[in-house]
This record gives sequence, C-alpha cells and structure tokens, in this order.
Amino acid sequence: MHSQLNFQTSFLALDFYTMAPTPIFPVKVGHIDDVQELRKAKQSNVPQRFVRDMAERPELATTVTHPSDIPVIDLSNLVKGGKARFQAEILKLTAACEEWGFFQVINHGIDVEVLSDIEKMAMEFFMLPLEEKQKYPMAPGTVQGYGQAFVFSEDQKLDWCNMFALGLEPHYMRNLSLWPKNPPTFSESIENYSREIRKLCKSLMSFIAVSLGLNKDVFEDMFGVAVQAVRMNYYPACPRPDLVMGLSPHSDGSALTVLQQGKGSSVGLQILKNNTWVPVQPIPNALVINIGDTIEVLTNGRYKSVEHRAVTNKEKDRLSIVTFYAPSYDIELGPMPELMDEKNPTKFRRYNHGEYSKHYVTNKLQGKKTLEFAKIHPQASF
Ligand code: OGA
Ligand code: NI
Repeated sequence: MHSQLNFQTSFLALDFYTMAPTPIFPVKVGHIDDVQELRKAKQSNVPQRFVRDMAERPELATTVTHPSDIPVIDLSNLVKGGKARFQAEILKLTAACEEWGFFQVINHGIDVEVLSDIEKMAMEFFMLPLEEKQKYPMAPGTVQGYGQAFVFSEDQKLDWCNMFALGLEPHYMRNLSLWPKNPPTFSESIENYSREIRKLCKSLMSFIAVSLGLNKDVFEDMFGVAVQAVRMNYYPACPRPDLVMGLSPHSDGSALTVLQQGKGSSVGLQILKNNTWVPVQPIPNALVINIGDTIEVLTNGRYKSVEHRAVTNKEKDRLSIVTFYAPSYDIELGPMPELMDEKNPTKFRRYNHGEYSKHYVTNKLQGKKTLEFAKIHPQASF
C-alpha cells in the first residue's frame, strides 16, 4: 500500500513538473499589462490592477539601514579557515539561520565574471522587444518562461515585475522550448552560472547541517538529485512605488535560495524582522542566501523561512537573479527526529516534497500561508 502511494504521488509530481506549456487546470487571469511596456509609456499613474489596497501598500520606510544589518557569512572561513575560524563562523551561521533566516555570503569562491555575465544576459533578455520575449510565454498556472507567475484570478492584484524562469535540474524539468535563442549565449551562461550556484548550495547545505550538530552529508543524502530552478526578476522604475508591490510578500518553498542583486540596481529586497520590513542593502559581489520552507520543516522550526518582498523605485530599475534549491520531488520529508524532543514536539506533518511544490506554485504568494500545508495544529487539551 505504502509503495503504491509513493508511486502515485511521485508520478503526479513528475507529470506536473514536466511543465508543459499548457496549464494543468484552466485559469482565468484577465488582462495582464507588461510592466516594462507600461514604463515605456511614461504615464504618471499606474493601472488599477497594480494599485494595492491600503493595508497592502509598502509604506516605504525612510529608516537608515546598513549592509551589515543582515548577517554576513564569510565562506572562506568555513572552506579553509582552520578550526577556530571554522567554529566561529559556524556559530554566526547558526545565529543567522535562527534569528534572521537570511544572510549575505562573501568570499563564496564564484568568479565575479560568472556573476556579471549572467546579469548582462538577463538584462539583454529583458531589454528585447516584447514580441521576442513573448516567444517564451509563461502559461497561466505555470512557473516557467516569461511573464507574471502566481496569478490565479481576474481580480488578483499584480506585481510590478517581469519574470523569466526556467527549471534546470534534474534535466526532466527542462522545457527547452522556453530557453531563449536570443541573446545567443544565454543557454551557455545559464549552464555556467547554475553549475557554480549548485556547488555553492551543496556546500552551504553541508555547513548548515554542521551548524545543527548533524552529519555534514545528511541533506545531500536525503535530497536525492536536488531540484534547481532559476528566476530572473526585473522591476522597472515605477511612477508610484508607494502604491504597488514589486513582488508580493512570501516565503520561498525551496530548501535554500540564492539571490543575486544586480549591480547598480535600486535597493528593493526587504525581509520581515520583528514586524518591520528591513531592506537588504547589497554588498558588492556578495550573494543573499535565505532559508526556505523545506529547511524550516526539516529543522522543526528551528531555522526560519522568513517572509520577504520586493519594492520598486521611482527612478531606478532593479534586477535580481534567484536560484531555488530543493529536494527531489519524490522525497518524503518532515521534521528530523534528531531535532525533536519533548520540549520541541513536532510542528509539521510528513509529506511528499513534489506535492508541496505543486501546492506552492498553484497558490498566490501570501506571506507564509503556503506552509499551512504542512503545519500540525495542536489539539486543544482539556
Ligand atoms: C523571489 C524573491 C526577491 C527579489 O524571487 O523569490 O524573493 O529581490 N525575489 O527579487
Ligand atoms: Ni523569495
């Protein structure tokens, strides 16, 4: 019985994640304006569908923040630091994952050319004429290609953002008809970039394991052939940044997310800390890492998948390149027994990761709501 169930769920996940351009269920999303085209039209207002209700407006804070507000992890101390430095950096990593769910990693060992090359490619792609980009459409209800993801109804407010996303690993996720032929070296850049980022993810997962007092290979062994996807987000300057959202508040469904903030971009990423939205000031050549829902579940809530969002800017545009790294879709997971005891009873049920991913991408972004999928709500005791 159990193995049969397993087979069915993984089959479903596989079926879904081939991500054929046709949606798996009919979705009516209404007219979606392309935000770059709106920007080109140079109007001083924004269409109603982008204007957020009062309670959802970003309240652009004027508080001064510094790059070092968010923890900074020096990867070189972990890779080749000697015992004392290693231990000190692991403690910083533990604190970053427990208290922030976010950190910036410096000295990550990835060539700056690899980082600048992918930015250049992404910008070239976004600057293509709309008709060219629309050769790779993100069909409603799917998350690969060019367009707006996570739109499921005709009255849903839209984000001031254009996305281009691709599934990369395992290879069955690749929908090659969505890989741009223009710029001509796009595919090569994506391959180079994702190979380097994958190595970084594996390395970070091993240090995260150590920071939890676990064997360094525990996640590598558990994840199977890890899923990897890339999403490029382009936020044009917006005439009314006070009224719109660049990217709706959400937590990531991944295990780990690696986010590269474009050079010269406006500051736009914000994370929720003690009920305040804290901007993530870019550090040149650093990568922003965040804990996704999967690690929150595996650690039974010890490491937090923190809510974040992106806001827009009146003068400047912004680019981010985001990699999601997650277990294979056929993996069953839940809180790890090593991280639970009487004082820390289980907060999440076990589930199939493919089903969780499907749940994630078939719902609109709404803070941490998608994690309700896995939450166990303790029975009231009398
Ligand atoms: C994301 C994300 C934020 C950004 O793509 O999941 O959180 O700064 N992006 O673009
Ligand atoms: Ni995110």
